[in-house]
Amino acid sequence: MLSTVNASLTQLNSDQDSESDNDEDLEGDAATSSTSDDLQRINLAASRAPTPLSISQCLKLGRSLSTMSLRRNMNFLNRELPVRFSKRIVELNHLPRELRATEPIMNLVKNYSLSFQELQTYSDNSRLRFLSTNMHNREDLDLDDNESLEQEALKEFAELLQAITNRHKQDVIYMAHGISLFKRYQHHRSKPSEKIQSFLNSFNCGRLGIRIMVGHHLALQDQLYRAQSSAKNDSGSKSPTQESLSPSSYLSTPTSAHSMRVGIIEPDCDIEALINNATQSAQFVFFQHYNTVFPPNVVVEHAKEAGGRKIRFPVVPALVHHILFELLKNSMRATAEFHGLDKSSYPDILIQLSSTPSGDLNIKVKDHGGGMSPEQISKPFDYLFTTASNTVCIDFPSIISAVESKPQKSALGENLPLCGFGFGLATSKLYAKLFGGDLTFTSTPGAGTEATIRLSRLEDQIEQFSD
Ligand SMILES: Nc1ncnc2c1ncn2[C@@H]1O[C@H](COP(=O)(O)OP(=O)(O)O)[C@@H](O)[C@H]1O
Ligand SMILES: [Mg+2]
Repeated sequence: MLSTVNASLTQLNSDQDSESDNDEDLEGDAATSSTSDDLQRINLAASRAPTPLSISQCLKLGRSLSTMSLRRNMNFLNRELPVRFSKRIVELNHLPRELRATEPIMNLVKNYSLSFQELQTYSDNSRLRFLSTNMHNREDLDLDDNESLEQEALKEFAELLQAITNRHKQDVIYMAHGISLFKRYQHHRSKPSEKIQSFLNSFNCGRLGIRIMVGHHLALQDQLYRAQSSAKNDSGSKSPTQESLSPSSYLSTPTSAHSMRVGIIEPDCDIEALINNATQSAQFVFFQHYNTVFPPNVVVEHAKEAGGRKIRFPVVPALVHHILFELLKNSMRATAEFHGLDKSSYPDILIQLSSTPSGDLNIKVKDHGGGMSPEQISKPFDYLFTTASNTVCIDFPSIISAVESKPQKSALGENLPLCGFGFGLATSKLYAKLFGGDLTFTSTPGAGTEATIRLSRLEDQIEQFSD
């Protein structure tokens, strides 16, 4: 099956190459250029509009969780995921030839195509199976038989989703590697393309939407199975996905004992605890990078409301963890490099929490890391911008094998380097905007930087596709 996909993609690439030799060409019409069956399916799926995720629907599904409701979600994902995967394939195939031809980007295309193919095959097979069960023996089944058929289907689907999740663990690393190779090529040319920037926004936004949908479904499946096993008082048995998964391996972060998590959503999240987790991850990566240098402390201010209650807010913890982790790594690095790596202590990094009159939550991260120069301050959200590349040499193959071998930590980013991808702030802004929030910066050259994450109340939000 994979060889057919690859043949189609080679065809698609060569069609594009013959259409245009312009390395900035993102307009080539790959979607109509082949006759192969697979390619037609990709194009057909990609021509459909994705259905935006609605947080209230995700919560509703989690709060009325049953085999049947999860089965309906599975049917929705069966239709939705091929659309989203096919769009990523088309986006990748519209990249400039020099970027598309790099090995990491070819790996990405191969992986997305394989996942698309597996989802399509699964969807075709389950339709056939549904028809044959209905025609022959569904009437003869009693309720228990029906329930166990549904559970079997859910288990099989979860296994497929888990395999796909594992395959796409290194997407960001492949992308960063491809971009770094492309940057070397671009070095002698004009300024990096705006179109690459908008491709990366769209690709990453689409990728994130997929991760959230899949992560929510898998987390709910675990939740349902746990509820069913404890109802049966069968505490010894394992959930269908438990053997291959821990919560952190599918878009999650450690949960506290009092967590009321619904799938991947925490409706009443302890924000200070989330900050502490991100701080630990950032300090761990900092220490690995500089070896003998101790990282700056992080001090959280105003973590309590007027009545003394800890600030709690509805969030997708994995998204906020990602943003805080990226900001803290940057602030720690800036602080240590600005004050000198020979110091035994550094000024604290401050985090301030405040509610806005409209009910949003602001999280400010303030450092004394020397700020950015007037020339740099316009660039932090540019994927191709990093000041680390002169001093840091990234060994992409080692990072990929580290992520492969330690899936637990990869979810928290602890296998990734402190800096050097240039992706941290660009992806963080996307993560913040996905459900109606934002990430903004002010920086005083010679003094420090202040980043503000604004989080909107999640319940009312639907997924925002990138502009
Ligand atoms: N708090 C900060 N203080 C000073 N410079 C910063 C800060 N945060 C980000 N930057 C600058 O923005 C660049 C891009 O940051 P980022 O997107 O996280 O990529 P990376 O950390 O891989 O370089 C950094 O290389 C650095 O020059
Ligand atoms: Mg960074």
